[in-house]
Amino acid sequence: MLHCIPDILEYAELKKIRDAIAGGDFKDGKLTAGYRAKRVKNNLQMDRDSASAQEIKSMVMKGLKRNKTFQEAALPRTIRPPLISRYSSGMNYGWHVDDALMAGEPRVRSDLSITVFLSGPEDYQGGELVISSPFGEQEVKLPAGAAVVYPSATLHQVAPVTDGERLAAVTWARSYVRDATQREILADMLAIQKKLSAIAPDEPETDLAFKTYSNLLRRWSD
Ligand code: NI
Repeated sequence: MLHCIPDILEYAELKKIRDAIAGGDFKDGKLTAGYRAKRVKNNLQMDRDSASAQEIKSMVMKGLKRNKTFQEAALPRTIRPPLISRYSSGMNYGWHVDDALMAGEPRVRSDLSITVFLSGPEDYQGGELVISSPFGEQEVKLPAGAAVVYPSATLHQVAPVTDGERLAAVTWARSYVRDATQREILADMLAIQKKLSAIAPDEPETDLAFKTYSNLLRRWSD
């Protein structure tokens, strides 16, 4: 299941982020790629230890933490600090799967991959995030400030940018619920309980919907 979530970042935050990026130091993206992904990774990444990168990371993390839609869909337990990537004309990131265990101490299992778009679709040509799914390839290109959240288990690529510049923050989360199907059932159940709560607040079945959601979450979370 793929979630497109608008307004992770506000306009003022995006402006600050773009200013920080303009004065930032960028390095070859291959430096942070696994040995197979290195073959196909052709982008630039902001020096992760620089002061500007730290400032951007903290704004993106704040945006993810305060967004209710993201919290409910992803049920994040740990979110890795984001990487800031830049694709100029001719750059791309070919088909790959993200590492299962991300670097750090302790290493963090990646259940969900997250791209927060820092450029708008009007800023570049090409550069779609393409995710392979049982329903075919899904192409994603969202407004600046929006995010896409998708299972890290998928093969995906960033298509070549043919004009302009694509800026994005990418990161990964370990979810309290590892299994994507279980997360989808929980999201459906949450929608049902919210609706029942609004239209039939005093019915005992509304309590049952809340009970079912809570007990599934209790059973499946770790
Ligand atoms: Ni990836």
